[in-house]
Amino acid sequence: MNSTRDIELTVNDQRHRLTCEPRLLLSDALRHQLGLTGTHVGCEQGACGACTVIVDGIAQRSCLMLAVQAEGSEIETIEGVAGADGDHPVQEAMHDAHGLQCGFCTPGIVMSLVAAYRRGVPVEEARTEVLGGHLCRCTGYVNIRAAIDAAWAGLGDEP
Ligand code: FES
Ligand code: FES
Repeated sequence: MNSTRDIELTVNDQRHRLTCEPRLLLSDALRHQLGLTGTHVGCEQGACGACTVIVDGIAQRSCLMLAVQAEGSEIETIEGVAGADGDHPVQEAMHDAHGLQCGFCTPGIVMSLVAAYRRGVPVEEARTEVLGGHLCRCTGYVNIRAAIDAAWAGLGDEP
């Protein structure tokens, strides 16, 4: 019996039609079917935040979502965050403040921060609640917080 499903997703403004098993995680669909390996997979149980993408405007852990649940959704991954004018302010600030070392956690952190930035959450919430959803084994968070401060200082300059 064929148990696969055909689904349609929009990822980084491009429509995709996928054939997948109902159990396929969104993270695996992005990485293995669409080749978007910037979405990293760490724990696969919702703890580390490395797999975070933006689904219909909300930061979501893609390891906790089935690809079939994302049918019809608009998904953004780290590959789609930079615009025609260059990097998003969060990306620029992470670069300038050296808010990363190995970079494994970085795409997920950037996606959560970009979603928060767009919503205009207060900087203190970004530094605590938003960043608190991510584990980084390298930086100790000091430089990531410096990047948040720098990005939020320019909040309002970018949609
Ligand atoms: S891989 Fe999804 S939260 Fe860790
Ligand atoms: S930069 Fe290495 S895990 Fe965060």
